[in-house]
Amino acid sequence: MTVTVIVGAQWGDEGKGKVIDLLANRADVIVRYQGGNNAGHTVENERGKFALHLVPSGISNPDTLVVIGNGVVIDPKALREEIDRLEAQDVSTKNLRVSGNAHLIMPYHILMDRSQETRLGQKRIGTTHRGIGPAYEDKAARLGIRVQDLLDPKIFRQKVEASMERKAEILRLVYHQDVEGLADQCEEYLAMAETLRPYIADTALLLWEAVRAGKEVLFEGAQGTMLDIDHGTYPFVTSSNPVAGAASVGAGIGPTYIDRVWGICKAYTTRVGEGPFPTEIEGETGEYLLERGHEFGTTTGRKRRCGWLDLVALRYAVRINGLSGLVITKLDVLSGIGEVKAATGYEFEGEICLEVPRHQSVFHKARPRYETLPGWDEDITAARTLDDLPQEARDYLAFVEEQAGCPVVAVSVGPHRDQTILLST
Ligand code: GDP
Ligand code: IMO
Ligand code: MG
Repeated sequence: MTVTVIVGAQWGDEGKGKVIDLLANRADVIVRYQGGNNAGHTVENERGKFALHLVPSGISNPDTLVVIGNGVVIDPKALREEIDRLEAQDVSTKNLRVSGNAHLIMPYHILMDRSQETRLGQKRIGTTHRGIGPAYEDKAARLGIRVQDLLDPKIFRQKVEASMERKAEILRLVYHQDVEGLADQCEEYLAMAETLRPYIADTALLLWEAVRAGKEVLFEGAQGTMLDIDHGTYPFVTSSNPVAGAASVGAGIGPTYIDRVWGICKAYTTRVGEGPFPTEIEGETGEYLLERGHEFGTTTGRKRRCGWLDLVALRYAVRINGLSGLVITKLDVLSGIGEVKAATGYEFEGEICLEVPRHQSVFHKARPRYETLPGWDEDITAARTLDDLPQEARDYLAFVEEQAGCPVVAVSVGPHRDQTILLST
């Protein structure tokens, strides 16, 4: 049995949800280890179409235990709504477990996130406004409220008071926000506590038992390598560590238990929010990717910025995550685009660089150095083996594999679970 980490190899939205759902039928446990409801993971299978934000993407598999680990930040209202939505779609959540050590996103975190972004104006990060950054700030400042605090109203109120005092002042005086209702909104969380109680567990222990019993475990990364707070395009990043190494910390399982890491990568690139994006394409070809790939955010509905595949960033993701396999998604979207480009390096002040620049200012000004390959026009959404693909598509995959220095283990040719060429199990 294997313990696998599934991680985004780009700037998020690579199709991690689809891949997790595909692998879920043989997984005993699926674990989210970071991020929060900034994530939007789309799953399409015989039971319907689901947009998941907090609940792991294997939820529609009735025999799989799905876990929200300690490293995740949880908006209990969003969690409650997601559980209700799933139940309404006939998907049972009885196998969901939530770590008591996970931190809560409080109403004042959401207000803080919005206010900070508004104040930054042109310099904004383009966050999802879900309160992710401020919640992780409080965690590091040891002012966070945890899931387990919901079960002790007295402690909960004491902690909220201590944590909110200064923030309410900042919100009122610096950001001119109305903070009147905030205390009541925090109180509403307590009202939800009893309905969440059955899900709360010592998830690190559950996981350890699963691993020791030789169960199949999948870690579900949210966001992507280039959005990692340490290894991404800081400050245009999220406030957690999506990279594979964080799975261990965010779930409470030693790194020696992890057997392999698969990176999910689109056949091109997208990014939501601000920040450097060397291979971004403006104009007709960018529009083609946007339309054909339906590149609108699952969480915020924002248009995703579109560009060619960035092999410099992909090689970096292979290195930083220790990827043992690559899953290339949305290959079908490239059909009919004409010639296909991929950046093999960057140019900066006449120099060629093959690595992600160490300095932010270089990254912002780096220009892509493209390799151009022949494209294909055929609809490939029905392909189920490599042989079903046109030669040009196979050549493109071989090129990506060689450039990335990592074997392609699966290729996705459509949003549905079945629209996959699985090369390794
Ligand atoms: P995630 O955040 O990494 O799980 O990715 P998202 O779900 O946010 O975005 C990926 C989008 O592409 C979703 O709408 C998926 O249904 C869709 N998708 C996934 N794989 C493929 C594919 O191979 N082809 C096409 N056309 N769509 C795909
Ligand atoms: P999934 O899991 C793509 C981006 C936001 C913004 C930056 C910081 O679906 O791949 P935050 O709200 O986290 O403080 O925003 O990160 N971002 C994502 N982009 N996919 C995601 O998740 C993202 N989660 C956050 O757009 O640029
Ligand atoms: Mg997404």
